[in-house]
Amino acid sequence: MSIRSFFMAKYYDSSIKKMEEQCLGDWRRELLSPISGDILEIGSGTGVNLFHYPKSIGSLTLTEPEPHMRKLLQNNVNNQPEGKIRVEAFSAEALKFPDQSFDAVVSTLVLCSVNSPEKTLEEIKRVLKPQGKLFVLEHVLATEKTPLIKWQKLLQPFWKCMCGNCHLTRNTEKSILEAGFSFDSIDRVYSSGGPAVISTMIKGVALL
Ligand SMILES: C[S@@+](CC[C@H](N)C(=O)[O-])C[C@H]1O[C@@H](n2cnc3c(N)ncnc32)[C@H](O)[C@@H]1O
Repeated sequence: MSIRSFFMAKYYDSSIKKMEEQCLGDWRRELLSPISGDILEIGSGTGVNLFHYPKSIGSLTLTEPEPHMRKLLQNNVNNQPEGKIRVEAFSAEALKFPDQSFDAVVSTLVLCSVNSPEKTLEEIKRVLKPQGKLFVLEHVLATEKTPLIKWQKLLQPFWKCMCGNCHLTRNTEKSILEAGFSFDSIDRVYSSGGPAVISTMIKGVALL
C-alpha cells in the first residue's frame, strides 16, 4: 500500500467529477443499460458504475485489487439496497473464478491500467460463458496524426507513475480484436472536462 495509491483512491471521484458530469456519466449509463445476467466488473475503483446498472441484472461481482480503492468500493456497496453484489480483491490478470462463470464482463477505464492487457483479455475470455459479452469504455491512443499522439507518448512515463499505472498509448480496440473478440458495436467518443491526453475513448460491446 503506497502513499500514492492512498491519494489516488481518496481523490479519484473528485478528479473525474467534471468528466462524469459532462460525458462519462451518460456514456456509462448508455453502455450498461442493456446489460443482463451475471456480471463481472474488473477494476471497479470506488464503484462509479454501481449507479448505472439496471435493477434487472442477475448478480454483480466487482473486483478491485487496490486496498484503498476497495475500501471505498465496499462502503458504496454497503449503501446499496440490493443484496446481490459482492466484492473481490482479484487482479484482472488472475480472476479466481471458474471457467464460464459470467454472462458479461465490464471494463471501464481499466485496460489502460492493468499490467498486461493480453493476460487480462485471456482471463475475461475464460470466465465468460459462450456468447458472453465484454462491455468497454476506455481511453486509448489517439488515431489521428495530431499533436495529441506526441503528447500522449511524451507524458506517458510521468502519467503512468502518478496515475496508478495508467497508460496513455494503448490501442485497446486492437488488443480486444487480437484476443479473439469481435465488436458488436463500437463508438469512438471524445470526452470533455478532463485532460486532452485521455480524451480519445472507445465505448462498445465485444462478443466472443
Ligand atoms: C482509472 S481507475 C477506473 C475505476 C473504475 N473502473 C471507473 O470506471 O471509474 C482504474 C482502476 O483499475 C484498477 N486496476 C489497476 N490495475 C489493475 C489490475 N491489474 N487488475 C484489476 N484492476 C486494476 C485500479 O486499482 C483502479 O481502481
